[in-house]
Parts: sequence; C-alpha cells; structure tokens
Amino acid sequence: FHVDMDASETDKGTYPFYMLKEIDEQPNVMRRLAQIYLSETGEPVISDKLLNSMKQADRIYIVGAGTSYHAGLVGKRLFENLTQTPTEVHISSEFAYEQPILSKKPFFIFLSQSGETADSREVLVNVNAGGYESLTITNVQNSTLSREATYTLLLHAGPEIAVASTKAYTAQIAIEAILAKALGEADNQIVAQRFDVRHQLGLVATGMQALVDEKSKIEKLAKASFLKTPNAFYIGRGIDWSVSLEAALKLKEISYVQAEGFASGELKHGTIALIEKGTPVIGIITQEKTAGLTRSNLQETMARGAQILTIVSESLAKPGDTLILPDVDPLMSPLLSVVPTQLIAYYTSLNKGLDVDKPRNLAKSVTVE
Ligand code: G6P
Repeated sequence: FHVDMDASETDKGTYPFYMLKEIDEQPNVMRRLAQIYLSETGEPVISDKLLNSMKQADRIYIVGAGTSYHAGLVGKRLFENLTQTPTEVHISSEFAYEQPILSKKPFFIFLSQSGETADSREVLVNVNAGGYESLTITNVQNSTLSREATYTLLLHAGPEIAVASTKAYTAQIAIEAILAKALGEADNQIVAQRFDVRHQLGLVATGMQALVDEKSKIEKLAKASFLKTPNAFYIGRGIDWSVSLEAALKLKEISYVQAEGFASGELKHGTIALIEKGTPVIGIITQEKTAGLTRSNLQETMARGAQILTIVSESLAKPGDTLILPDVDPLMSPLLSVVPTQLIAYYTSLNKGLDVDKPRNLAKSVTVE
C-alpha cells in the first residue's frame, strides 16, 4: 500500500524528538485547516449531504479512545453550545460492550488519529449493523474507520509519529469547531452565526505560536516542578476539566508521573487526601464564570501543602499566575491551554532521559481490543 507523504513531513530535521516537532507544527495545522475547511468569506465548507444527515439527528454520539476521547469531550461542549444538539461522548471500548440507550435519531462521530483503533472500529461495526449514519474524523485517508463510516473529514495534520498525540488532538478540536459552526448555522442558531470561526482560528494560530516560543520558560518550570515529583494534578471546571484530563494523560504516558485530571470542585470530596507537601496542582482557568471557584479550589490544596501553578487566559489573569494564554473565544480555549501541558510533559520526559517518542508499554495505534 502507498502512503502519500512528503519527506520533510517524516523527517525529524533538527528536532531531538518528533513530539517537539509535532507540538511546533500546531499553528500551521490550524492555518491549514482554516484554508481547507473555510471559504474566502470564512464560511465552513462542509458537504450538504453531511450537514443534512447531522441536521436530522436528535443526538450526537462521539466515540473515541485515549486522546481522541478527550478531544470528544471538548467537542461535546462545542456541539452543545453552537448547535443545541445534546451530545454524548463515549470511550469506545465501553460503548462496544455496554451500548448506551440510543435516541430516536442518533448520529455518530468517530474520532481517531490513526483510523485503525480496534475498540472504535468495534463500535462502528455495530453502528453500521444498526443502519445508522456516521462520520469519521481522522488523520489517515482510507483508514479502516474512514472506509467504513458514511462520511470522513480529514485532520490534515501531517503524519503524527510520536506515540503521544499532540497536533491530532488540536486538529480534531478545530474540525469539531468548524463542523459545529456549520451545523449551528444550518439550523439558524444565533450563537453559531456570531461565532467567527475563521477569526478564532487565526487568533489560535498566533496564540499557539506565542506559546511554543515560550519553550525555555516551560522547560524551566518542568524542571523545577515535575522532574522529581511522583504525582501531580491538573484541575479545572467545564471545558478546563476536559483539557485537564488530556494534560494529565500526556504527563503519564511519556514522563511516568502519576497524574490525574480532576474537576476542581470535586477534589475536596476525597481526592484532596492525596495532596502532600510539594504536590504540584495545576489549575487551568479560561472560563470567566468558574475562574474564581477554581482559584479557591487551588487555595484549598495550597493549605494542604500543594505547590500551585496556573495556566490562565489573559483577561482572567492575576499577579502571580504561572502561564498566561492569549485570549480567544472561551470555547476555543482548549486549543491554547493544552499547549503548555504538552510542553510540560515533553520536557519532563526529556530531562528524565526517557525516550519521549516511544514510551514504554505503549503503541501509536492499538489494533487489539
Ligand atoms: C493509542 C495511542 C493514543 C491514542 C489512542 C487512540 O492508545 O497510544 O495516543 O490516543 O490509541 O488512537 P486513535 O488513532 O484512535 O486516535
């Protein structure tokens, strides 16, 4: 079989690891997606067939594994906000054997970088057997999940070689945003009409560039706070919670720090018992209505000895915050807040002398259930 790849795309160049190259490519991937999926006037270019199928749905079911599942959690917030369509997100290996009760007119979205994950495919086989329509959002043209779903949207992120997924996650979210905008507009939703996705993707690309240009600052932070710790917590509320799960997964998979992503308000109901002197607790703060609450949850951990750090949107920043994110629409904030967490994981792994691109026990694509 033939894979269409430009040599420069699979060449590490001067990068020590693919992961860092792939983190750095994210601003370009955002620009590329805007070019491919938006018209000159900034309107989404999505086939009428796909939009009509989705318009008929009374509920969207997003299915994925690992990082793709986490991109789905962000997608739920995009679809529900911009289209008012109830959206559920499922871990594919769970859905496959404990199928949730389906609505009258479900529509299925499969998220898969590789398009080959066996757990997700098992769900798609059942979806097809039920006669339902589906969309696969994947980085690999002609992959199994792409061939077997009704529709495909490609991530156009270029080959992702590092086992830990970075640019595929942000590309998945960007496409979900474009699709949610298109669907919301097709349904005359005012929020969707007002959501200027082209402008937002431009802000995101510039913001990502500013963040990846702050590498040395993040490396210092990773050395100071993550190199020696056995565990760490990322906390946030709402969409920030969704990102905290992905942030923790990155840290676990490549730097072997036991990390948890947690809903900030839930921490005090048990898990706070794990906080010890020096435990890093990183608050992700990008949503105005919950910013103050997450800050008080951070204080609660600090009172138990935690070392607190913050990743905060500029307009919500206060003196003493650790990392500041350029402002974007709060729905797009995951595209920026995740970047420092990718770099924290990268530098922790690097400075532990680990093989960043090929962490122990993991494979890029898992084709067994
Ligand atoms: C593997 C990889 C993860 C990835 C997951 C889902 O476990 O190590 O990084 O998120 O599979 O992969 P997919 O290709 O379906 O997105």
